[in-house]
Amino acid sequence: MKLTLSDIDMRGKKVLVRVDYNVPLDANLKITNDKRIVSTLPTIEYLLKNNAAIILMSHFGRPKGKVVPEMSLKPVPARLSKLLGKPVKFVGGDCVSLESKKAATDLKPGEILLLENLRFHPEEEGKNASGKKDEFAMDAFAKELASMGEVFVQDAFGTVHRAHASTAGIVKYVKDAVVGFLVEKELKFLGEALEKPVKPFLAILGGAKVSDKINVIENLLNKVDTIIIGGAMAYTFLKAQGVSIGASLVENDKLDLARDLLKKAKERNVDIMFPVDHIITDKIDFTNKEVPPTAKVENTVDESIPEGFMGVDVGRKSIEKFYEVVKSSKTIVWNGPLGIFEIDEFSKGTVEIAKLVAEATDEGAISVVGGGDSVSAVKKAEVDKRISHISTGGGASLEFMEGKDLPGITAIPDKKR
Ligand code: 3PG
Repeated sequence: MKLTLSDIDMRGKKVLVRVDYNVPLDANLKITNDKRIVSTLPTIEYLLKNNAAIILMSHFGRPKGKVVPEMSLKPVPARLSKLLGKPVKFVGGDCVSLESKKAATDLKPGEILLLENLRFHPEEEGKNASGKKDEFAMDAFAKELASMGEVFVQDAFGTVHRAHASTAGIVKYVKDAVVGFLVEKELKFLGEALEKPVKPFLAILGGAKVSDKINVIENLLNKVDTIIIGGAMAYTFLKAQGVSIGASLVENDKLDLARDLLKKAKERNVDIMFPVDHIITDKIDFTNKEVPPTAKVENTVDESIPEGFMGVDVGRKSIEKFYEVVKSSKTIVWNGPLGIFEIDEFSKGTVEIAKLVAEATDEGAISVVGGGDSVSAVKKAEVDKRISHISTGGGASLEFMEGKDLPGITAIPDKKR
């Protein structure tokens, strides 16, 4: 168990909070989804109640160590301020400029300051001004950030899988470092699901590539009872078992690996389920994300896909087959869509699964959903409020499920026993 907010006296302190405000913006730089901002409110409100002066630090996008004006955090303070009902100060330009440091020094208890995008500095990601890997430069930057506050709070779950200056390096330069309420909640749900699952335990994995999910599957084989595999990666597994998949997306260099994973699953008594039928089409306009009017779209009769057609979603029979196993599970983790979710016509399987997961949750299961498209699916199905926990970290929740070390968490000291 990591040290948490209540383990340290925050009253009147200057507190540096690492948040993940890497939120989606539209072409006019308007925030289109503020979940990551909303999720940090409990920590900020707790610190305000304790009369702390709050310095928020975040990255935005991948500016690769350069100042990219479209990747400024400028749109964030107004939204945060509206949500909190109080002003949020912001200094543009450079997060460790004299102006930023002065704003941090002058910050009074009960006030909030957001620093500019940390990744405008190459040192944040461990590089120097010439773009070369440089641990000393990263360390010096971490020290500079740390000098602006007294306590560090890690509340950027979406970024804890990165070993960066503001996520891990900073910890050794502050007196106290703890996790915030968001990280605490993420660790509780993901941790309990993986370490102490109420059985039967089901994992639903989708997405395009087996290669993206190998480590997750390997790690989950030691924990789950059943894995439902959908999305394009199912076609690689089906081909590996001799099923014809027509023109579907496939990773031909991963067929042996797929067979190996199936063998391991059998040895460990884990039931791996694949779609038993598919929605198929002979044409897709990937650029415009639509189905051309001349395209044929069909539901196959069984698991095989005819030549000239590609699988794009799970079929009706598959959803019926998955129904029983989802409804009888007591712990469900889900990452990745079951079809080409971004094309409306092919999002049905993913949306139906979202509804099933919500029904199972209503009946007492614990459900944890991570990954951009599965999170969008629960929203699209309008069941997001019925899921036990929706992770704010795509890559971070995946690495957690892989059983990997998360540097931003590891750096925080454990509670004393
Ligand atoms: C995310 O959006 O997944 C996080 O903010 C991490 O961003 P990154 O993949 O650019 O490190």
